[in-house]
This record gives sequence, structure tokens and C-alpha cells, in this order.
Amino acid sequence: MRPQEDHTPLVATGFGLTLAVLAVFQVYFWREPGRIQAVEAADLRRAQTAGSELYAENCAACHGEGGEGNLGPVLNSRTLLKTTADDTLFSLIRTGVPGTVMPAWGQTYGGPFTDQQAVQLVAFIRAWEATAPEIAPVVIEPDPVRGATIFAETCFICHGENGQGTDRAPALNDPATLRDFDNAWYRNTITHGRPAKGMPTWGTVLSPQQIDDVVALISAWREGQAVMPLISMRRHLRSALFAVQQFDQPDASFHLEAALAQASESEAKDIRAMMGLLGQKDWAGAQARLLTFLPPEEIGQELFVINCAACHGVEGRGGLGKNLRDNKFIQSHSDDDLSAFILAGRERTAMDGFEGILTPEDLSYIITLIRVWQK
Ligand code: HEC
Ligand code: HEC
Ligand code: HEC
Repeated sequence: MRPQEDHTPLVATGFGLTLAVLAVFQVYFWREPGRIQAVEAADLRRAQTAGSELYAENCAACHGEGGEGNLGPVLNSRTLLKTTADDTLFSLIRTGVPGTVMPAWGQTYGGPFTDQQAVQLVAFIRAWEATAPEIAPVVIEPDPVRGATIFAETCFICHGENGQGTDRAPALNDPATLRDFDNAWYRNTITHGRPAKGMPTWGTVLSPQQIDDVVALISAWREGQAVMPLISMRRHLRSALFAVQQFDQPDASFHLEAALAQASESEAKDIRAMMGLLGQKDWAGAQARLLTFLPPEEIGQELFVINCAACHGVEGRGGLGKNLRDNKFIQSHSDDDLSAFILAGRERTAMDGFEGILTPEDLSYIITLIRVWQK
């Protein structure tokens, strides 16, 4: 008879091992969710870092460095982020907003970014939500008066003061045309322009808000309303100066009257004196008086709007042409060099020369203005 084998130590060892394995698993199962979370958090941080770089390079110019908004709307807003799902942000970024300056960023839509990069941008923007200020995105109602003011500063040169047309561009206040085309058509035409036919692309110069204001003006014309722009006294005086230089008495009187209506007492005395000189057809006297009244950079501003704003923006902040504020090229050239440059233009770019268009006097006013912008 074989002696009874004693399995006890083995069973004990086996049991011990099983317990050990179970214990390890136990620990593993217990720690796994934490581990997954840690990996996910690291992935999210990586995505946010990548997103923040993409944002700084591509979006900050329009939406502000911290999403506070600029040319584009505020993105760092709790209301916006709460009501906009990741999917919606993702798709907005990929497709852009057609008919506005918000470009399409997704490769599928002709933009530069992969889907992964769009996800990274969403992760970066989403991270603002926790601390985003409780402000509703600003909705500014399109305003025909603001539109009329923009029109009087930017469009009248070609389309005439009330949109009646000039030899440079067709009438815009023609009732039949206004009936045939809706606001969306006007918004689109103004934004994209017809560069080949001399109508500038305003989408790169005016903000979508400003274009909406101009469309509101056009809409008011369609309803037969006349809208007066908010033109400052100084602007009327600048217009008067140009009318005087062209020996245009009715126009000069009109602008002097309008300026007088806004003038303080001491200014009114000067303006009446100018009207007196104009009455005597003393063109040189009226011009000299207007010139002492207007600082040269303001005259430069008028000339800039007429000649340069279509490309460089009314404020010189750039568009099709470069930003002329804090501009290295301007800072590193003398007045004479700048005059020569503006007369000659730059070959193979849209910057055509102004030889035969601007007088040396005009140039000196414009240069005074762009020097002020460097400060
Ligand atoms: C050239 C200016 C410009 C640039 C650059 C730009 N945007 Fe925009 N963006 C806009 C404008 C303007 C709108 C508003 C469009 C409209 O009227 O609906 C907008 C709208 C948006 C919206 C929708 C906001 C809302 O209130 O519905 C998001 C999200 C957005 N942009 C994200 C981005 C991101 C991300 C980038 C960079 C990859 C970017 N934008 C770059 C101009 C810009
Ligand atoms: C430098 C001159 C110039 C300026 C400044 C200008 N336009 Fe034009 N615009 C034109 C010309 C030229 C056309 C006609 C283009 C064509 O023949 O298709 C035109 C056409 C248009 C049309 C289409 C009219 C139609 O019946 O087809 C609209 C709308 C318009 N402009 C609006 C504006 C607005 C708004 C502004 C100011 C923000 C402006 N334009 C500033 C030259 C100009
Ligand atoms: C039709 C469009 C257009 C008009 C109008 C225009 N510019 Fe320009 N301008 C440009 C472009 C585009 C450039 C940049 C050229 C390049 O890519 O080097 C430029 C460049 C310049 C520069 C050099 C800036 C730099 O950093 O290199 C100055 C200064 C300048 N323009 C001044 C003016 C002034 C002043 C006027 C009006 C008298 C004017 N421009 C009218 C399109 C225009």
C-alpha cells in the first residue's frame, strides 16, 4: 500500500498563488480606470497644446488671442460654449461660414487642416468653457445710418454721394434694380466685388458687420427712405476743401453749411469767414483758411480714403494691401523715398504707382498721415 500522499503543502501553495494572482488582478482592476483616465487626460492636454498653437497662428487675428473677439465674434463666451456642441464647433471650423470672412479650414473644403487638427482646435476652445465670462455673443443690429456713413466714406467716390452713380460706377439707388435683387445678392456682391470690372472686394476691407450696415442702407433705399450719414464737422470741412480746389461752389457751400450746423462758437466764426471768402470767389483765400483749420494728417486721411483705402483699409490696417501701421518699410524709408515709392508702385504686385494721379502736395499729406500711424 502506498502511503497516503500529503497534498496539503501544494494545495496551500496553489491557494496562496491564486490569492496572490487574484490580489494583483484586484489591484489592476481597481487601478485601470484611473490609468485610462490619466492616458486620456494626457491625450487631451496634447490636443489642447496643439490646438492652442493652431489657434494663435490662424484664428487669433480675427477672434482675439483669448477668444475675446475682434473682426470675428467672441468665442470665449459661456453662453456660446454651453449651447454649441463639439460636433457643431468641429463642423463650423471645417466648413467656415459661407458669405462671411470666416474661412473654411477643413481639407475637404479646400482648407489647410486635417480632421485631427480641427479636433485639436475644438479641444482648445472647449477648455475656455469652465472660466468663460457669462456674456452673450454681441448681436449688433444692422444700422442704415452707420451704413450711410460707411457709404459716404468709402463708396461715394465711385457710386456718388447718394448712390446716384458717377462716370466711374453705376447707380445703386435705381428703384428697378433694387426691386430685382435681394439683400443676400447685395451682401454677396459687396463682399466679393468684381475686381476685374473695377468694383473692389470689400470683404477684405470692411467687417461683415459693416457690410450688413451698408446692406441695411440699400434696403432703406429700396423702401424709398432717405438716410443721412453721420458726418463729422471736420469731414465736411475736408470735403469743402476738395470742392474749393475744384472750384465747385455749390458743393463747397453745401459742406460749409453742414459744418457750420455742428460747429462750436469759435469754430463758427472761422467757418463764416470761409463762406464770406467763397462768396467773393476768393478761392485761394478760402483754401488757405481751410488749410489752417485742418491738420495735414486729416487732409491726408481724405486722400488716403480716395486713393488707398480700397486695398489698405480706411484705417490703414491692411486688406489686400499691407498693414501700414507699425510698418517696418515705412519706418525705414525717408519721406522722399516714400514719395518715390508711392509714385512708382511695386512691380508685379497690386500696388500700382500713382504717378500723374497724386501731386507732391497730396503725397506730403498722405505721408504725414502714415507717419502718424507709426507712433
Ligand atoms: C478672417 C477672419 C477670421 C478668421 C481668420 C477666423 N475666423 Fe472664425 N469667424 C469669423 C467671422 C466673421 C465669423 C462670424 C461669421 C458669421 O457671421 O456667422 C466667424 C465665426 C466662427 C465661429 C462660429 C462662432 C459663432 O458665434 O457661431 C467659430 C467657432 C469660429 N469662427 C472659429 C474659428 C477658428 C477655430 C479659426 C481658426 C482656425 C477661425 N475661426 C478663423 C472670422 C474669422
Ligand atoms: C473704385 C470704385 C468703386 C468703389 C470705391 C465702389 N465700387 Fe461698387 N462698383 C464699381 C464698379 C465699376 C461697378 C460695376 C461693375 C460691373 O460692371 O460689373 C460696381 C458695382 C457695384 C454693385 C453692383 C451693382 C449692379 O447693379 O450690378 C454694388 C452693389 C456695389 N458696387 C456696391 C458698392 C459699395 C457698397 C461700395 C462701398 C463699400 C462700393 N460699391 C464701392 C466701382 C466701385
Ligand atoms: C490696388 C490696391 C492698392 C492700392 C490702391 C494701394 N496699394 Fe499700397 N500696396 C498694395 C499691395 C498689394 C502692397 C504689397 C505689395 C507686396 O506684396 O510687396 C502694397 C504696399 C504698399 C506699401 C509698402 C508696405 C510694405 O510693407 O512693403 C506702402 C507704403 C503702400 N502700399 C502705400 C500705399 C499708399 C499711400 C496708397 C495710396 C496712395 C496705396 N498704397 C494704394 C496694394 C495697394
